[in-house]
Amino acid sequence: MQHRRRHLLSIADLTDDELRYLVDRASRYAAGQESTAVLSGQVIGTYFRKTSTRTRTAFSAAALRLGAKVIAYGPADLQENTGETVEDTGQVLSRMLDGLVVRTSGPDREIAAYAAQDRMSVVNAMSEGEHPTQALADLTTIQRLRGEIDGVRVLYVGEGNNSAVALALALTRFSGTALHVVTPPGYGLPEATEHAARKYAEVSGSTFMSGHDLAAVPGGADFVYTTRWQTTGTSKPDPDWRAVFEPYRVDEALMSRYPEGRFMHDLPAHRGEEVTAAVLDGSASVAYDQAENKMHSASAVLEWCLTGGRR
Ligand code: CP
Repeated sequence: MQHRRRHLLSIADLTDDELRYLVDRASRYAAGQESTAVLSGQVIGTYFRKTSTRTRTAFSAAALRLGAKVIAYGPADLQENTGETVEDTGQVLSRMLDGLVVRTSGPDREIAAYAAQDRMSVVNAMSEGEHPTQALADLTTIQRLRGEIDGVRVLYVGEGNNSAVALALALTRFSGTALHVVTPPGYGLPEATEHAARKYAEVSGSTFMSGHDLAAVPGGADFVYTTRWQTTGTSKPDPDWRAVFEPYRVDEALMSRYPEGRFMHDLPAHRGEEVTAAVLDGSASVAYDQAENKMHSASAVLEWCLTGGRR
């Protein structure tokens, strides 16, 4: 029986159970416990309108390993470049593909436009506002290292970008967690994300705090997390933005405050900017585990979207 196609556009679209389920499935894929033919006979398009090393490879490798065929579109390939609408593109592709993994260069409503049909699953592989599959990889990394996500303490340092948005929408759903988001002034999380994260934290019994003063962060941290200062190479309107970001570099002095803490980074990294080489390449870094877990969480996402899951 054909099940209804699911989309994954935002972490906020998932119930708490669905979020836990996807992380559990990703962990099982990572442990090599799952079937490799679950997507046999399916065709998945990957449409990356911006550069990507990890996410594009993670979804392509996951699809191929699970038995699907993959059609890859680059930013210059489709008739959107000659004026075809995103809505028409979504409708047409949905008549031929089972799933479409999209990284856009525009506002989040574009992703929703591809998903305005119910024949083809659409996965947000990063939009301007959110990077939901990054958060799934991050949670999978935490679960694999700790055995559980409940109770974990994460200090996020840097811009309140789309990876930070997804992390805030995800981590605050788990009980007893603590997420401190410390950003340069003017580069915090969007107000809607702050509001949603506080609401989730109230329900789950977790802690969510945001601010600009690293010295004022209370308590310990199991993970210190940062991201690139220029997400996918985007520029910032303030010509002096680098001076504003300088105090937020993750270095050995910051990590020494958290002797048991591990270091997370969604990559790509710029050593000497958001993180020192000593931290990124040091023994506390789990950045490459995160990168690998993008493929395992991509397997879980594709299985859940295209087949309805394996409960
Ligand atoms: N972290 C991440 O999304 O990496 P890519 O931009 O290489 O996909």
